[in-house]
Amino acid sequence: MSTGHTLSLHHGGAWVEVHLDTLADNIRAVRAVLPSCSDLIFVVKASAYGHGLLPIAEAAANVGVKWFGVAYLDEAVALRKILPEAKILVMGAVDARNAELMIRHRLTPVIVSAEHGALLAEAAGKCVGTLEAHLKVDSGMGRLGVSWQDAEAVLKDFQTDASLNIRGLMTHFATVEPSRPELASKQVERMLNIPVFKAGSLFRHASSSRAFLFHPEWDFDAVRAGISLYGYGADEDGLRFKTHPILEWKTRVMQVKQVPADFPVGYYSSWRSPAPTEIATIAVGYADGFKRLLSNRGHVLINGRRCGVVGRVSMNWVTVDVGADSGVKAGDEVVLIGRQGHESIWADEVAGLCSTIAYEVLTSINPAAERVYLG
Ligand SMILES: Cc1ncc(COP(=O)(O)O)c(C=O)c1O
Repeated sequence: MSTGHTLSLHHGGAWVEVHLDTLADNIRAVRAVLPSCSDLIFVVKASAYGHGLLPIAEAAANVGVKWFGVAYLDEAVALRKILPEAKILVMGAVDARNAELMIRHRLTPVIVSAEHGALLAEAAGKCVGTLEAHLKVDSGMGRLGVSWQDAEAVLKDFQTDASLNIRGLMTHFATVEPSRPELASKQVERMLNIPVFKAGSLFRHASSSRAFLFHPEWDFDAVRAGISLYGYGADEDGLRFKTHPILEWKTRVMQVKQVPADFPVGYYSSWRSPAPTEIATIAVGYADGFKRLLSNRGHVLINGRRCGVVGRVSMNWVTVDVGADSGVKAGDEVVLIGRQGHESIWADEVAGLCSTIAYEVLTSINPAAERVYLG
């Protein structure tokens, strides 16, 4: 076995590059198909699906996005600081003790039950100003929200409340499957049975990316899109719109060693070289969000070539078979997600190998990794 020059890195090795120009293209692509009477609510929760909340929201606002959807209050307050004019929907069940903060920052909480609404109204009543809110209706997701049968009564309860003004009505689909349209249709049918929803007197939104892609008839007054704007799930020709991934995840080779046949690699020697080859150790591991399930099955790109992950993914390092006489050396750039030369690996491919979804792969990338914004 012989070892080449070794790269020493001062910080965690992996970093993220986000292409803001591609984000702008994605936003334009979805806006182009959305009727002018429907707004786009850009879902930027979970640090903009791992892309970084503030740079993403700022770039989106620069190309005309007015509405943003977050899960928690701290995200909303951070957004308000950089986007004084944005409309910010806080979709988690915000604690009523924060009513004053929400009024002061002009945030729109989502009411998830009659009790939650009552607490918000009571707390808002002690403040100067009115709290504008949306009501979440559970029409079949079984998660947050007032049941569709109770929605009209809950709306009536708050009709004359001076402190809490319910301006919007929303729901969320459990299943949007073009081959089984009846599942989401059932949810829409339940919503349309709510007279206020049918009348259209409140601001109505139901669709997230998949429903937006496959059901133009459900755009209502807004769609809440997340993953499609980050470039996933809408990459085929012939769909309503097409978007492209905006995030690349990269690291560097730390060391390359030439190994003979039958050379054991990694914890428990779960891989042995079938022939003489070169093993590159790269600076990423499961602590960075590189899933351990990629052990002996994932790929990365080095010098424009796909190289297999061999051995177990460890906490901070991954070993890769780069092949004999690879020319790969310490310091070479490695693409974990993204494009290099003619090859690409995207988060949905990685997700497929890990029995998960691109959302989880993207949001698992260590938030501490440097994010570089391009374009
Ligand atoms: C309530 C709600 N609306 C919209 C979205 C956006 O979904 P997608 O990323 O599939 O567009 C989410 C995402 O988790 C959500 O929880």
